[in-house]
Amino acid sequence: MNLKYVFAFLFIIAASFFFFSCKDTVTADQLDNTVIPSSNVSYSKYIQPVFNLKCINCHGNGETDGGVNLTTWAGTTADPSVVARGFPDNSSIVWCVEGKPGVSAMPPVGSPYKPFTTNQVDGLKTWIKEGAKNN
Ligand code: HEC
Repeated sequence: MNLKYVFAFLFIIAASFFFFSCKDTVTADQLDNTVIPSSNVSYSKYIQPVFNLKCINCHGNGETDGGVNLTTWAGTTADPSVVARGFPDNSSIVWCVEGKPGVSAMPPVGSPYKPFTTNQVDGLKTWIKEGAKNN
C-alpha cells in the first residue's frame, strides 16, 4: 500500500476531529452536564448560558413574555420581584424554575425547552443570594 494514501487518510480523520471539536454551539445536554459551583457563581459563565438555551426564545429578541427580558444582566435584574438581589426565596424567577404552586412553571410545561436541573436551580439561587452580580 502506498504510504501517501495512509497519510491522506490520517489527515482526513484528524481534520474531521478538528472540525467537530470546533463547533461552538452548546447543546442543552452539554450545558446540563456543566456543574455550577456552590459559591462564587458567575452570571456570564453559568447563568446567562442556561437562559440562552432554555428561556430567551420567549424572553428576549423582541419577545418579552410577562415583561421579562433575560438576554442581558440588566434585563434579568430589572424587576426586583423577578430577581430580588440577595433574596432567592423572594424572587419569582426561582419559584418559576422550581415549578412552585401559584406561579407559571418556567419553561412552561409542554414547551420544547428542558427544565432546569437541580444544580441549575441551586446555581441560580446562589447567584441571587450572592447579590445577583454582573460577574
Ligand atoms: C415557551 C415560552 C416560554 C419559555 C421558554 C419561558 N417562558 Fe417565562 N414566561 C412565558 C410567558 C408566556 C409568561 C407570562 C405569562 C405567565 O406568567 O404565565 C412568562 C413569565 C415569566 C416570568 C414572570 C412570572 C412572574 O409572575 O413574575 C418569569 C420570571 C419567567 N417567565 C422566567 C422564565 C425563565 C427563567 C425561563 C427559562 C427557564 C422561561 N421563563 C422560559 C413564556 C415562556
